[in-house]
Amino acid sequence: MDNIYSFLVLCLCYLLICDGVEVAAFKNHEPISNVSQSYRTAYHFQPSKNWMNDPNGPMYYNGVYHLFYQYNPYGPLWGNISWGHSISYDLINWVHLDVALVPNEPYDINGCWSGSATILPSGEPVILYTGSDTNKHQLQNLAFPKNLSDPLLSEWIKSSQNPLLSPPEGIDPSSFRDPSTAWMGTDGQWRVVIGSEIDHHGMAILYKSKDFRHWTRTANPLHLSNKTIMWECPDFYPVSVNGKDGLDTSVQGKNDIRHVLKASFNNSDHYVVGNYDPKTDQYEVDTDFMDSKARLQYDYGRFYASKSFYDGKNKRRILWSWIDEDDSESDDIKKGWSGLQSIPRSIWLSGNGDRLVQWPVKELEKLRTQKVHFENKELKGGSVLEISGITASQADVEITFSLSNFNEAELLLNTEVVDPQILCTQKNASVSGSFGPFGLLLLASKDMIEYTAVFFRVFRGANDFRVLMCTDQSRSSLRSDVDKTIYGVFLDLDPRHAKISLRSLIDHSIVESFGGEGLACITARVYPKLAIKEQAQLYAFNNSTQSVSISSLSAWSMKKAQIVPIGKRRKLIK
Ligand SMILES: *[C@@H]1O[C@H](CO)[C@@H](O)[C@H](O)[C@H]1NC(C)=O
Ligand SMILES: *[C@@H]1O[C@H](CO)[C@@H](O)[C@H](O)[C@H]1NC(C)=O
Ligand SMILES: *[C@@H]1O[C@H](CO)[C@@H](O)[C@H](O)[C@H]1NC(C)=O
Ligand SMILES: *[C@@H]1O[C@H](CO)[C@@H](O)[C@H](O)[C@H]1NC(C)=O
Ligand SMILES: *[C@@H]1O[C@H](CO)[C@@H](O)[C@H](O)[C@H]1NC(C)=O
Ligand SMILES: *[C@@H]1O[C@H](CO)[C@@H](O)[C@H](O)[C@H]1NC(C)=O
Ligand SMILES: *[C@@H]1O[C@H](CO)[C@@H](O)[C@H](O)[C@H]1NC(C)=O
Repeated sequence: MDNIYSFLVLCLCYLLICDGVEVAAFKNHEPISNVSQSYRTAYHFQPSKNWMNDPNGPMYYNGVYHLFYQYNPYGPLWGNISWGHSISYDLINWVHLDVALVPNEPYDINGCWSGSATILPSGEPVILYTGSDTNKHQLQNLAFPKNLSDPLLSEWIKSSQNPLLSPPEGIDPSSFRDPSTAWMGTDGQWRVVIGSEIDHHGMAILYKSKDFRHWTRTANPLHLSNKTIMWECPDFYPVSVNGKDGLDTSVQGKNDIRHVLKASFNNSDHYVVGNYDPKTDQYEVDTDFMDSKARLQYDYGRFYASKSFYDGKNKRRILWSWIDEDDSESDDIKKGWSGLQSIPRSIWLSGNGDRLVQWPVKELEKLRTQKVHFENKELKGGSVLEISGITASQADVEITFSLSNFNEAELLLNTEVVDPQILCTQKNASVSGSFGPFGLLLLASKDMIEYTAVFFRVFRGANDFRVLMCTDQSRSSLRSDVDKTIYGVFLDLDPRHAKISLRSLIDHSIVESFGGEGLACITARVYPKLAIKEQAQLYAFNNSTQSVSISSLSAWSMKKAQIVPIGKRRKLIK
């Protein structure tokens, strides 16, 4: 048994690395038209073709990472929603398996919508997902692997007891969806939260169960917030107050654990940090959703319907998110696909315990290839520095700035009520200040007609300094029919004591940026017409009156990840 398993794993590892035999199979899955394939990514997770939205049921089980996702097997637009299923040994290279769940029962005939995986104490993984039934009512259903000895868990069976949960009285049957990963309380009972709303305000309904099949709604929701609208994809998990290690969702503790609740609404993933009592299910948050000062979001750009899981192999919590398109439906039909997943991010609580820090999983670094590196280079006000020697359309860039003469920084009073996104829009990349804009020009055309500017500004307040991070898409594309939003966020750091750093992952039509070593993230989808493939350039720039110094820059070309259908591999594996 062990030998067979090892053999299978070996075959699969080999196939993940060597793509040779699969070329023909891969071609079959390629979209017919190659008109706009310059937007297809090289190292972000994508199915070979068709529509993808939310990540579902991510888990690490028995040596294998599983990612399920909302998928239309029949086309590049939303519809026929099924659970796509892919597996990996490293979160970067993936093999697509057959669809795991398809809408074929009365309780899910209008779609197998989002849900989560939980690994039971017996070791068996199970899935709870939302079905849209014949009346388009939302119901929660259970599925489990057909064969636990199959290392890929390629086939899933729906429970004969489905549906397990129907919308309770007083809840709109079309606002009851996206069960979270379950966790166990001190009474040995399972808990799960489901996204919903009451009086048009978002809430996470809490259910309890002894056997994972019979669920009872608790008297109170886990949390609700009158400042929000309907919540989708709630996620609830413990984080350690000491260090970066992740925690299993069911871990209980008193002084060294806090809990994060994430809810998806208004096109963003918002979260709060608080203290959860697993006896009473009371959840006390530090500051509530939409608090004007904290404004905690996983990402301040395009990032929605995310889901996290605990990776027991590397003791970390990992976050995945859907990054949608901003081109038109006819573009998606031409491309044959729509939707990306973010690079999986490790997440942990920041040193002061009030927010999360995010960083691309370390496995991504295996794709780094040609490198350029330099240190201590002055960037005078009004200058642009070309960074050549790497593939600028498919790259990973880390840059750190240091500043002096802080007294020259522009004054920004009343900073607590300033909306950083509005500030980035008013003081966009083309507006010179004393410290800023300085940063990177990504996916830039040679003549600087197109570029995506990711930059910083430093302001002086009455008693402190503020660092603003912006992603300006106003010049990202010559096309007028795509998103030109300018995104912004303040970084929770003092530039007198901490360096201002930026890491950007560039992958043809996506730029994921991590400011302040992961204190804040901004993801953008961009559709350049000129700055594609070999035409794309990368620059550091400083359009301030003051000079700034690049203390360090490292940039790498990135290899293509192996993300391929199982195709003929099935025969090899069997
Ligand atoms: C599609 O790709 C082929 C082969 O690379 C090329 O010959 C052809 O011109 C391309 N078609 C379009 C419409 O770009
Ligand atoms: C759903 O699938 C059917 C085939 O089963 C197809 O005819 C239809 O166009 C699909 N709908 C979408 C939106 O892709
Ligand atoms: C379960 O999977 C194992 C490993 O792939 C296989 O040997 C076995 O035949 C499968 N059992 C069934 C009933 O399909
Ligand atoms: C929030 O909404 C709930 C449900 O409508 C209501 O019971 C509660 O009083 C509201 N709380 C506040 C502070 O408005
Ligand atoms: C939704 O987000 C937009 C853009 O950030 C913001 O302007 C708007 O006020 C938000 N709406 C609600 C209901 O929070
Ligand atoms: C950039 O800022 C200037 C000055 O505030 C403003 O006139 C211009 O419209 C802004 N550009 C964009 C794209 O918002
Ligand atoms: C830098 O500032 C000049 C005007 O001073 C402006 O023309 C140029 O577009 C700016 N550069 C960037 C990258 O915005």
